[in-house]
Amino acid sequence: MRVDVVTIFPEYLAPLDLSLVGKARAAGTLDLAVHDLRTWTSDVHRTVDDSPYGGGPGMVMRPEPWGQALDALAGPHTRLVVPSPVGAPFTQATAHALAAEQHLIFACGRYEGIDQRVLDHAATRMPVSEISLGDYVLFGGEVAVLVILEAVTRLLPGVLGNADSLAEESHGPAGLLEAPVYTKPAQWRDLSVPDVLRSGDHGRIARWRRDEALLRTARRRPDLLAALPPEAFDKRDRAT
Ligand code: ADE
Repeated sequence: MRVDVVTIFPEYLAPLDLSLVGKARAAGTLDLAVHDLRTWTSDVHRTVDDSPYGGGPGMVMRPEPWGQALDALAGPHTRLVVPSPVGAPFTQATAHALAAEQHLIFACGRYEGIDQRVLDHAATRMPVSEISLGDYVLFGGEVAVLVILEAVTRLLPGVLGNADSLAEESHGPAGLLEAPVYTKPAQWRDLSVPDVLRSGDHGRIARWRRDEALLRTARRRPDLLAALPPEAFDKRDRAT
C-alpha cells in the first residue's frame, strides 16, 4: 500500500519509523512518504493560512498549497483521508476499508481547518473520507494519522506474525471486547492465573474466553452487545 502524508509538521510523523509500522515500511508492505505542505507554497513567507471569510477566531488553511499538493500526489487509485472532528467516527471497520485501498493521501489540517473548496474539488477527482477519532478536538490531524495508520498497517497482509491475533481481538469478527489475558508466573503477589487457562482443555478455555468476553462487553460496552444480531449468540451464551 502506498501512503502520502501532507502536513506542516513532518517531524510529528517521526514515530512512523518505529515498531511494527517501521518494520512494514522497511519490508516494503507499506510505502510511506511524509511531505511538508510548505513545499507547495510560492510566496517568500511560505504562507499556508489566512483569516476566515465571515470573521471569527483563528486561521483557515489556504486552498492553493493543498491544491498543488494533491495535483502532485494523487493518482488514478487514490483516496483522500482528512482527519477532522467533523468526520465520520473511526472504527475497526474503517481500518479494514482503508487497508483495502491502493493509495491513501492524508491531509493534516491545522488551525480551524482546511478551506472547504479543497475537499469539494478533490471529491470531483477521487473518493474523500473525513474521519474523526472521537468527540474531542485536537490541534491538528497529525496524531490522528498516527492512530489511523497504526490500525490500518496491522491489517495489511503479512504484518502480524500470527493472523489469528486478528480473529479474537477486541472489535474483531465476534464484535466483543477481548477476554483478560495472563502470562507467567502462575502466582504473582497474592494473585493467581485462572485454573482453566492452565488446564490444557482447549474446549473449556475457548468457552471461558467467550464467557469473559461477553461479561466484559456487557459491563463496559453494552452498546456493542446490543448491536449484535441474534445469530451471533449460541445456547451457552444465553446462560452467561
Ligand atoms: N483533528 C482535530 N480533531 C480531530 C479529531 N477528533 N479526530 C481527527 N482529527 C482531528
